[in-house]
Amino acid sequence: MVSFRHSNPTEILFGQGQISALPQLLPADAHVLVLYGGGSIKANGIYDQVVAGLAGRVWVEFGGIEANPVYETIAQAAELARISGSNFILAVGGGSVIDAAKFLAAMVPITAEDARDRLHAGPPPRNVLPVGAVLTLPATGSESNAVSVISHAGRHLKLPFANPAARPRFAILDPSTMKSLSRRQLENGTVDAFTHVLEQYLTYPVNAPVQLGYSETLLEVLLEWGPRLIAENSDEARENVMWAANQALNGLIGAGVPQDWSTHMIGHAITALNGTDHARTLTMVMGSVMRNGLEAKKAMLARYARRVWKFDIADDRQAAEAAIAATEDFFTRMGCPIRTGALDAEAVVAHIEAAGQFPLGESHATGAEAVRDILRRAA
Ligand code: NZQ
Ligand code: ZN
Repeated sequence: MVSFRHSNPTEILFGQGQISALPQLLPADAHVLVLYGGGSIKANGIYDQVVAGLAGRVWVEFGGIEANPVYETIAQAAELARISGSNFILAVGGGSVIDAAKFLAAMVPITAEDARDRLHAGPPPRNVLPVGAVLTLPATGSESNAVSVISHAGRHLKLPFANPAARPRFAILDPSTMKSLSRRQLENGTVDAFTHVLEQYLTYPVNAPVQLGYSETLLEVLLEWGPRLIAENSDEARENVMWAANQALNGLIGAGVPQDWSTHMIGHAITALNGTDHARTLTMVMGSVMRNGLEAKKAMLARYARRVWKFDIADDRQAAEAAIAATEDFFTRMGCPIRTGALDAEAVVAHIEAAGQFPLGESHATGAEAVRDILRRAA
């Protein structure tokens, strides 16, 4: 195992009705900025529950955070936070709103005209406003991790940003908030969480039975309950997918093990170029990433085939190939594409280059030529 430090101080409140705990979760002197997206929370009653929890407090709201949140919009929210004297950010939404809230929390104290360079380069600022989250879409794990992924209008760039100081103080996970999600968002959430596990699991063998065993459990839960979420949309399915998606990217299964993330970096570039849903960019390329890296990943792919897919195949290469095919079949059953269609591969390579992310992969072996090969296979 690689040495690691692990801390996840986000307090999780899980279960139906937990939004009513908001008054106890917010600090007594909190001046709250409520951040939300395009309005789903007003249609499904979540906004009203949050407003009830803010009774008697000073608060303002900023709506309109886009899916794949944009820097320029967050800068407007920062201006409102400064003018209103807000000292607490409450995100109510999916990964986009929560990512935006964490970025906003770091941006508010920076009064320089353009905080962009300060926030994407160098050590992350420690002077950030506290953040709380009410999750409405399980997928990203953003509600209890340190990461934001921010898009930059006009630059066609989508960049990850990690700041442990911006990790939410609390996250409310009420599975009943998922009742208003469209089928497409339920599909997206399941496959995004599934790929998060694979990015941290499908690398090369290490001595990490706790992390690898837990990853296999999360994959099995998502394989069983993702399709059931679509078919049944039951309380049980909502609970299981919501909790699995949180655990998939809260730092635990990635502690002490190598991690890949090339599927995600290629996926972010595709979204930056054409706006494709985050989860769907991942299913478009993940099989090809595995095929491109098959030799290096063969041992873990074979383990994945036998333990998760229960394939009784003795030969490692055959087992690995069967696991890749089964993964793509799962994505297809979840309504997601496994091919990119026409795509400007050079623009994807240029995005990864501009983001300073080369070389990708657990062994830092995935350069521009490998990305071209992946995109050729995925076309
Ligand atoms: O904006 P509103 O009106 O709220 O509608 C949203 C949005 O249109 C809607 N929605 C959310 N909750 C709903 C709902 N509709 C009905 N009922 C509800 N309960 O769903 C749409 C998509 O929301 P979004 O937040 O964009 O989805 P998701 O949670 O998949 O987040 C995607 C973003 O997270 C980033 C992605 O790159 C993308 O920008 N990621 C963040 C990560 C992290 N912080 O660790 C890791 C991920 O790999 C990912 O990169
Ligand atoms: Zn993702």
